[in-house]
Amino acid sequence: MASKPQVYVGMSADLVHPGHLNIISTAAGHGEVTIGLLTDQAIASYKRLPYLDYNQRFQIINSIKGVAHVIPQATLDYVPNLIKLKPDFVVHGDDWQTGIQQKIRQQVIDTLAAWGGKLIEVPYTQGISSTILNQRIKEIGTTPEIRMRRLRRLLGAKSIVRCIEAHNGLTGLIAEKTSVKIDQQSREFDAIWLSSLTDSTAKGKPDIEAVDLTSRLHTVHDILEVTTKPIIYDADTGGTTEHFIFHIRTLERLGVSAVIIEDKVGLKKNSLFGTAVPQTQDSLANFSFKIQSGKKAQVTDEFMIIARIESLILQAGLPDAVARAQAYISAGADAIMIHSKESSPVEILEFARAYQAFGSHVPLVAVPSTYNSISEDELATAGFRIVIYANQLLRSAYPAMVESARSILTHGRSLEIDSRLTPIKDILTLIPDDPAGLNPLPQRLSEPAVKLNHS
Ligand code: SPV
Ligand code: MG
Repeated sequence: MASKPQVYVGMSADLVHPGHLNIISTAAGHGEVTIGLLTDQAIASYKRLPYLDYNQRFQIINSIKGVAHVIPQATLDYVPNLIKLKPDFVVHGDDWQTGIQQKIRQQVIDTLAAWGGKLIEVPYTQGISSTILNQRIKEIGTTPEIRMRRLRRLLGAKSIVRCIEAHNGLTGLIAEKTSVKIDQQSREFDAIWLSSLTDSTAKGKPDIEAVDLTSRLHTVHDILEVTTKPIIYDADTGGTTEHFIFHIRTLERLGVSAVIIEDKVGLKKNSLFGTAVPQTQDSLANFSFKIQSGKKAQVTDEFMIIARIESLILQAGLPDAVARAQAYISAGADAIMIHSKESSPVEILEFARAYQAFGSHVPLVAVPSTYNSISEDELATAGFRIVIYANQLLRSAYPAMVESARSILTHGRSLEIDSRLTPIKDILTLIPDDPAGLNPLPQRLSEPAVKLNHS
């Protein structure tokens, strides 16, 4: 008996809609269907991380009528799977004839030609698309659990996770929504850094743990309300161990993904002062105990405690930094942040080499505020898995605001600065009343709902 023709369909299947079902049923009409399900890594390489992880997407696609097999497609490129399976047909929507997938499409056609295989293109299903669904889902928002898990998922899917600071709702929106197109691929920030420096400065306070947790949590709430991306919270020293465990519970309950604590004691000053102000590093044993206690206090498996090493800032030397990294990892740290205030990345690269040498898989975090010539690719090559742009939004707003204030004072009016400002009509509509249409007011009743009988 002649075996059935083999049909290959590559898909992400994150937000499954009738367009996907149409492609699968067309494919099933031509033979036995194998779905090449794109891995989280493959999807994250060209667009956002999928909402559902690989296993969840596998379960859905594997139970759709007409699907015989589901295998991983580990790259956007179909060629490795096509060479393995040598299918008679590949079925795809016709929406890849232009844009980023155009090259991939041509490779599919060329590869299939080697054994006489054919590409079948299904007309795009009008009125519904993953892009529209994605937009709607973003508008609806997220849940604490989904948001919290997202940082670990990003670490699993991306070579380096890119974070930017936010210190209020507006900067949260900038972190959430800003995107640029580079080589037809969209590029965004993956996560949000809740900096103690910018949160304190925006409140007109120094970065010395003077802004208490309640006040910091107001900022967290403002950002949670308007964003869906994961949050890494800068908890300074974490306070006493007794207080730190309460912070963990609160942040975890809100859906914050990670907390970073730095190994300092006493009056904390911003690290970028270095040794110009008195700052004391915590003992290795004490800080390890704080990490251990925090890990014990957390309720979920997903929440991350990131230990921040200040040895280079305080000129305690590389061997001290490395010894602390090993100790903090043994204490349960989920990631290590190494900080530096040098203008060159030499010392953090030296640390990264020593870190690689002891073969830990615990992710490494960099905050290149001063050594800002280093690129994300260079950091990733050195083994860093998270990069934090810790203060750039506040630092860009501050000089612009001072310039406006000075111009108004100088000229006795605002005309001269107006061309540098966002137009009034744009600022009025920057934030729509009800972007998701989630809160339609009920119909106003013309009569009272309940009539009282006075007779
Ligand atoms: C922050 O952003 O508050 C930080 C990083 O902790 S740094 O300001 O460099 O200490
Ligand atoms: Mg800080």
